[in-house]
Amino acid sequence: MIELVRPTVDLSDSWWEMVDDFADTTIHGSSYRSGDRELLRDRDAFEEWVDWLGRMERSDEALPQGRVPSSNRWVVRDGRVVGTIAVRHALTPSLVAEGGHIGYAVSPAVRRQGIARAALGLALRLAASRGIDPVLVTCDATNTASARTITSSGGVLEDEREGVLRHWVRTGAPAQPIGPGPIETREARLVPVTSEEAAAMRAGETREGWAEGYPREDDLDAVGMMPSGPDAWTPRHIVRRSDGLAVGSIGCFGPPDEGVVEIGYGLVEQARGGGLMTDVLSGMVRSLEAAGLTVVAHTEPANVASHRVLARLGFERADEPADAGAGAEWLWTRRSDVRCVGDA
Ligand SMILES: CC(C)(COP(=O)(O)OP(=O)(O)OC[C@H]1O[C@@H](n2cnc3c(N)ncnc32)[C@H](O)[C@@H]1OP(=O)(O)O)[C@@H](O)C(=O)NCCC(=O)NCCS
Repeated sequence: MIELVRPTVDLSDSWWEMVDDFADTTIHGSSYRSGDRELLRDRDAFEEWVDWLGRMERSDEALPQGRVPSSNRWVVRDGRVVGTIAVRHALTPSLVAEGGHIGYAVSPAVRRQGIARAALGLALRLAASRGIDPVLVTCDATNTASARTITSSGGVLEDEREGVLRHWVRTGAPAQPIGPGPIETREARLVPVTSEEAAAMRAGETREGWAEGYPREDDLDAVGMMPSGPDAWTPRHIVRRSDGLAVGSIGCFGPPDEGVVEIGYGLVEQARGGGLMTDVLSGMVRSLEAAGLTVVAHTEPANVASHRVLARLGFERADEPADAGAGAEWLWTRRSDVRCVGDA
């Protein structure tokens, strides 16, 4: 049986056997570097390091520059460490481009026995339990074994960037049905715009806590459509957790119509390109679907960034533009049959 186990000194003997088996090659998802060997051979230092691997999971732990919290696990089969896997809780621009959410490796001695596939399946459940959906999993274009591991776990290839294949995998993270209160996502809070704020926005005022450039034209159009007060469907500020700034808005074009609801969203320039909208849209869509709704969106045909976000969340574009005239927009619908890893 394959298990993911929090690093523990109790498994140190088989950990070192696995390290020897890698013979100084990189052990992805381990946070171990072969240069650390001398130091970590000391029992106390090893214990301290194992403790640190556990603390990296906590959001209140001060991490080195550029590191995000991660759940570090050892892949254990029949009581022995046979691999490592780490689930990073957030994406930085460099993780978006290259590293992804999950790093993993299996000991060369036990490869091709289905261990990576089982471990990745368990790591996807772990990601789901932390509300991360979808996850980005990458590998070198030459790494056939890893690419197959990812695609057979439900990974959908988005693109190749500088020799790196980037796949997205749905985890099926649970969500609260949408209501009039804030929606919490990994990287943001989606806070309903109040009537008073809507009036201030329309009057061209800015507020402390609103990022430069917010609200944009589209945000103003959205609040312009607000009825008297906020409800589940009206616009929400996208308040980024990392700095508490409102950097965009997301909301629905009115209440559902026969079980279908249309969403609109946008970010100020400086908040783009770091995976934030994937996280925000995923949280919003899950809340709408948890309320039994089908979610659709319209995009400009040239809006490639938006198409990518929608496609990776399982939206499909209608074959023909919704209205074939000039300036016609594309209609996207979230497939309700998208298989989520962890579904029965
Ligand atoms: C990638 C790695 C984790 C795969 O581990 P593994 O336990 O051997 O993989 P599995 O046995 O679970 O196999 C998973 C899939 O890969 C395929 N596969 C495994 N090794 C393969 C190989 N050498 N060539 C082609 N396909 C291979 C399997 O057939 C299986 O495919 P399927 O699900 O379509 O049947 C392992 O090779 C490794 O640790 N490599 C070095 C570190 C690394 O590359 N990590 C990933 C970084 S992105």
